[in-house]
Amino acid sequence: MERKSIGDVVVLWLWFLSLATITIQFSLSDGTSDVICSARERRALQRIKQGLVDQGNYLSSWTREACCSWKGIGCDNITRHVVKINLSCEPMEGASLGGDISTSLLDLNHLQYLDLSWNSFEGLQIPEFLGSLTGLRYLNLSNAGLTGDVPRQLGKQSSLQYLDIGGISLDTKNLDWISSLSVLEVLDMSWVDLNKASNWLQAMNTLHSLSVLILSDCGLDSINPLPVVNFSSLTVLDLSENQFVSPTFDWFSSLGSLASLDLTLKVSDFLSNNFNGILPVSIRNLTSLVAVDLSNNALEGEIPRSLGEHCNLQRLDLSSNKLVKGLEFLDLGADEVSGHFSKCLSVLSDGNSSSSGPTSVSVRGSSSLSYLDMSGNSLKGIVSGKHFANLTRLKYLHASSNSFTLQVGSDWNPPFQLEILKMGYWQLGPLFTAWLQTQKDQMDLDISRV
Ligand SMILES: *[C@@H]1O[C@H](CO)[C@@H](O)[C@H](O)[C@H]1NC(C)=O
Ligand SMILES: *[C@@H]1O[C@H](CO)[C@@H](O)[C@H](O)[C@H]1NC(C)=O
Ligand SMILES: *[C@@H]1O[C@H](CO)[C@@H](O)[C@H](O)[C@H]1NC(C)=O
Ligand SMILES: *[C@@H]1O[C@H](CO)[C@@H](O)[C@H](O)[C@H]1NC(C)=O
Ligand SMILES: *[C@@H]1O[C@H](CO)[C@@H](O)[C@H](O)[C@H]1NC(C)=O
Ligand SMILES: *[C@@H]1O[C@H](CO)[C@@H](O)[C@H](O)[C@H]1NC(C)=O
Ligand SMILES: *[C@@H]1O[C@H](CO)[C@@H](O)[C@H](O)[C@H]1NC(C)=O
Repeated sequence: MERKSIGDVVVLWLWFLSLATITIQFSLSDGTSDVICSARERRALQRIKQGLVDQGNYLSSWTREACCSWKGIGCDNITRHVVKINLSCEPMEGASLGGDISTSLLDLNHLQYLDLSWNSFEGLQIPEFLGSLTGLRYLNLSNAGLTGDVPRQLGKQSSLQYLDIGGISLDTKNLDWISSLSVLEVLDMSWVDLNKASNWLQAMNTLHSLSVLILSDCGLDSINPLPVVNFSSLTVLDLSENQFVSPTFDWFSSLGSLASLDLTLKVSDFLSNNFNGILPVSIRNLTSLVAVDLSNNALEGEIPRSLGEHCNLQRLDLSSNKLVKGLEFLDLGADEVSGHFSKCLSVLSDGNSSSSGPTSVSVRGSSSLSYLDMSGNSLKGIVSGKHFANLTRLKYLHASSNSFTLQVGSDWNPPFQLEILKMGYWQLGPLFTAWLQTQKDQMDLDISRV
């Protein structure tokens, strides 16, 4: 009898083990799932914890057996290997993690995600051994207090798709190692001093999968033109807050998939931070652009008419430039826009540009447009009922501080019902009020002249 019951226990235990292997996780009463993990990986995590200074007791859950349910740890559902360490402290209040980053990370052979962002490893350099985590797909060390040179060993991480080392005071003199990150999709090196890394653009141009490149405030002052532009996947390019001396725009025009281009410069260094020169007509090749911010540069000459034909453009900021002749025509093909056009015409909005701005604005096929903000643009022209013909869903129209003249007949029956109408500075004819009576909703109205 006794024997049989031991047998039962063994059978039950085997059954339990197989269950644990096949379904891997089961629920605890508190609703969190608890997962058995390998003792080797648990020991590695314990050593990592020992290296860290954890004043906020962030890692208090790192004591139980089942390390897959420890805070910030993620395991593969099938193999139970630790695949993710996320010790990002951004949403936390209080103390972030400091101390040392242990080489025991290398014992986690299956690690794919490492997020140490928003910590305070003050004075620590990015450890060279991180380069040996060759299975990593995601590495985020942004705002983690790290300093010093970016180790070229990071180039060994051939599986890396996301690399964020922004927001920390790093520098690098040579970026050729980055070419080895052949599947990199997102690269954020904001604040990393790239001033001495003269090959930065050539190195990054080899990254065929790169879709987001953020190099804001990197001390960049020159752009060597690219003989061949290989950025076939680039959709977002942010080179804001740099000190370019005399870059040329031509190569940007080959970035056919670009959706967002941010080239603002610091207002404080306005005179020295110049994207000077003329916007090339070929900017029309950037047909995917949704947002263009070229404010605070020293652009001269005319805005090419072609820019006004960008059907996808939702935001265009050319303020604080030296443009002598503004956009003659802006066609906001707003078919798919349901959100804001806020500032989309801020081409003139700060009043410091000598440009005369678009003299004609067409909001084409824009029946989905509900919010249109074109205020403060010194736009001129006569606005008649036909300009609003398709704006059936318009609810907010902010168009103050322009030199528009409204010309509508007493019988005009607008297709919209507005909630907010701001027409400050407009010339409003004597028949202006007739159509206002068609607006049934209570409306916030501004028709002031000052
Ligand atoms: C693991 O399973 C959970 C719950 O079914 C799921 O949400 C999660 O995406 C899975 N993780 C992986 C890496 O497959
Ligand atoms: C890490 O956690 C933070 C906050 O919970 C989250 O925003 C971030 O996306 C996570 N990182 C990864 C790689 O999952
Ligand atoms: C890195 O982490 C920060 C803060 O947690 C986050 O804002 C950023 O988007 C992350 N970077 C990437 C590439 O995911
Ligand atoms: C650019 O792409 C072409 C064609 O794919 C390739 O032959 C060339 O080596 C690439 N150049 C760089 C710098 O990656
Ligand atoms: C822009 O596109 C035209 C054809 O549409 C092409 O001939 C021209 O070379 C392109 N310019 C650049 C800079 O890519
Ligand atoms: C216009 O430029 C002057 C100096 O050039 C600056 O002081 C002022 O703030 C600018 N105005 C706006 C609205 O940006
Ligand atoms: C209104 O929409 C129609 C059909 O999409 C289009 O043909 C017409 O040009 C539009 N009118 C204006 C003023 O944009």
